[in-house]
Amino acid sequence: MQDQLAALLAKAAAEFPTLATRPDFEAAKARFVGPNGELTALMKQMGGVPKEQKPIVGKLVNEAKTALQAHLDAALARLEAAELAARLGPAVDPPLPSPDRGPGTFHPLTLVREEMTRILRKVGFTVVEGPEVETEYYCFDALNTPADHPARDAQDTFYLPAAARFGNVSKKTPDERYLLRTHTSSVQIRTMLKGSPPIRIVSPGRVYRRDTTDATHSANFHQLECLYVDKNVTVRDLKALLDYIFASLLGKETKTRFRPHYFGYTEPSFEVDLSATHLPKVNKPWIEIGGCGMVDPVVFQDVGYDPEVWSGYAFGMGLERLAMLLYGIDDIRYFYQNDVRFLKQFA
Ligand code: DAH
Repeated sequence: MQDQLAALLAKAAAEFPTLATRPDFEAAKARFVGPNGELTALMKQMGGVPKEQKPIVGKLVNEAKTALQAHLDAALARLEAAELAARLGPAVDPPLPSPDRGPGTFHPLTLVREEMTRILRKVGFTVVEGPEVETEYYCFDALNTPADHPARDAQDTFYLPAAARFGNVSKKTPDERYLLRTHTSSVQIRTMLKGSPPIRIVSPGRVYRRDTTDATHSANFHQLECLYVDKNVTVRDLKALLDYIFASLLGKETKTRFRPHYFGYTEPSFEVDLSATHLPKVNKPWIEIGGCGMVDPVVFQDVGYDPEVWSGYAFGMGLERLAMLLYGIDDIRYFYQNDVRFLKQFA
C-alpha cells in the first residue's frame, strides 16, 4: 500500500505540472480523485487492512490525499493565471511613449461655446450654469407659460417620476414635477431670484426635446441663453448686442434681422435671422438662429422686480446650429457620434 501511494504521488507530481488546458486538468483530476480514481481505489482497500495497521495506513493515505490536493491546487492556479494572461494580452510597459498621437482636441460644440462666452464676457456678461433637471415652475410657469398654454404643449415632455428626488435642484412648490429642461430660459428665473439687478448673464447648456432625430433635429442639444436687466434697456440694445455677437463670431459681413414672434416671457418677441451668404455651404440669404425679446413685465413681477423701474432683454439660440454654420457641417448627428475622423478636423 505504501509503495502504491508513493507511485501514485510520483505520477501526479510528473503529470500535473504538464497539464495545459482545463479539460486536461478535469480529466486528470478524475483519474486520481474521482469516484473511479486511483486514490479512491486505494482508499477502498482500507477495508482489507489488518486492524493493528489501520492507524498507520490511514495516516499514509491522509498524507497522500493532502499531497495530491496540493498538486491539484497548484495546477489550477497555474491554469487560471494563464487564462487571465491570455485575456489581458501582452504586458504593457508604462514608461513607453503613448501610441496616441498628440493631445486631444476640443469638440466643435465646446469651441463654439467657448468662443461665444468669450465674446459675451468682453461686453460684461458673466457665465452662469443652471440644472438640466428642472421643475415646471422654472421651466414654464415663471416664464409666463401656464399649464394650459399651447406653447407649453410643444415642450411638455420628459417628466421624471413623482418620487424622483434631486437634492441640488430646488423646487418652488412642494408638489411640482421635475422634468428635463426644454430650454435654458429657466436659468433666467433662477438667476433673477438669486440676485438683484443689474444682471448680465450668459448661460450655455444642454436641453431636451421630444424630437425625432434627423439631420437637423436631436432629442438633446445645446443652447446659449442671455439675460440683461438694467434701467432703460431698449430693443436697440438687444439688436446691437446680437449684431456685435454674430459679427464677432461669423465675420463683419454678417447681418441680423428680427421677425415678430411669440414667446410668453418676452414682449415684444422676435425670431432672429442671420444673413449667411458669405458662409461656406450655407446658400440661404437668411437663416433662423434663435429667439429673443424684451423681458415681459409679468416675468419681472413674478421674481419680485419692479417692472416700472427695471427693463431688460433676453435671447436664446442653439449652439449646434451656430457650429453648423461656422464650420459648414450639414448633419447634426456628427456632433454626437464621436468619430475621430470628424472630431480631429477641429483641432
Ligand atoms: N427658449 C426659446 C426656445 O428654446 C428661445 C428664447 C426665445 C429664449 C426668446 C429667450 C427669449 O431668452 O427671450 O426656443
